[in-house]
Amino acid sequence: MITVSSNDAPSRIAFVGAGHVGATAAYAMMLRALFEEIVLIDSNVELASAEAEDLADANALARPARIWAGCYDDAASAQVAVITAGAASHGSESRLSLASRSAAIVRACATGLVDGGFTGVLIVASNPVDLMTVVAMRAAGFAPTRVIGTGTLLDTSRLKQALGDALHVAPGAIDGYVLGEHGDSEVAAFSTVRIGGQTIAQFAAGHPQPDLAALAVDVRDAGYRIITGKGYTSFGIATAIVRICEAIVRDERAVLPVSTWIDRRLGAADICLSLPCVIGSAGIERVLFPPLEPAEEAALLISANALTEALNALDR
Ligand code: 2OP
Repeated sequence: MITVSSNDAPSRIAFVGAGHVGATAAYAMMLRALFEEIVLIDSNVELASAEAEDLADANALARPARIWAGCYDDAASAQVAVITAGAASHGSESRLSLASRSAAIVRACATGLVDGGFTGVLIVASNPVDLMTVVAMRAAGFAPTRVIGTGTLLDTSRLKQALGDALHVAPGAIDGYVLGEHGDSEVAAFSTVRIGGQTIAQFAAGHPQPDLAALAVDVRDAGYRIITGKGYTSFGIATAIVRICEAIVRDERAVLPVSTWIDRRLGAADICLSLPCVIGSAGIERVLFPPLEPAEEAALLISANALTEALNALDR
């Protein structure tokens, strides 16, 4: 089991990539006081130093953490490292189209972490996240349980928000999952949704039923809309990173939909995609395969096949 903190070693997280996602996640992490030390690693040292200084400016007003721009060696004693570096997408450019540009970056980050002596749990947020989770896992040579892609945790949060709006209920009261690729082939598994133990149809009985197909498209395209409007997405994904870290640091055994190695288990090849996973201090403890409607099952296989094809193209 990975020890998150001990009396003589402060808890530490390393971010590889100090762009919008890395910096926002570091800020959110700092406000939650999840780690005593936060190190930002970026090939753009000036950017990492500026973000670290800006974050440290909030220290006296928040819960203090030691924050600095460092190098891979600084990740050696980190319990968690998060790779956020990758190719930036523009407007309606699909995540999968970033694959070859991102892969070289993510490979270098994972290798840098291992060469620097990192031995903790690795979180990957770079897009296309399912493929980049495979790339990082291979480059680091880590067991699949120690490599977690942020996957559809973000899409699931978006789904809960959208359903909450439609059903007039708190998003946090909704249980359910978006599964598969974090991207165009993702599967909004409405059959997994429960609100107070009720299905969507039961909960909405006597009220207008939500248009689930439209809602799924809305959730799927949220990233594109945000990127078109502000150039990147940051708050949602940063909070997803924090949520995964919380599960690790507190050894919660929380069930979160994250991208994980599925090991030919869906009838698809060796790829990473999102399924609900039990997450604790050592990383992914269990991968769950919830029962799905036949149409959802088929859509999940299509998603797995799309990722297999994209990974094969990346490997060629
Ligand atoms: C998101 O969905 C772009 O993958 C990023 O926010």
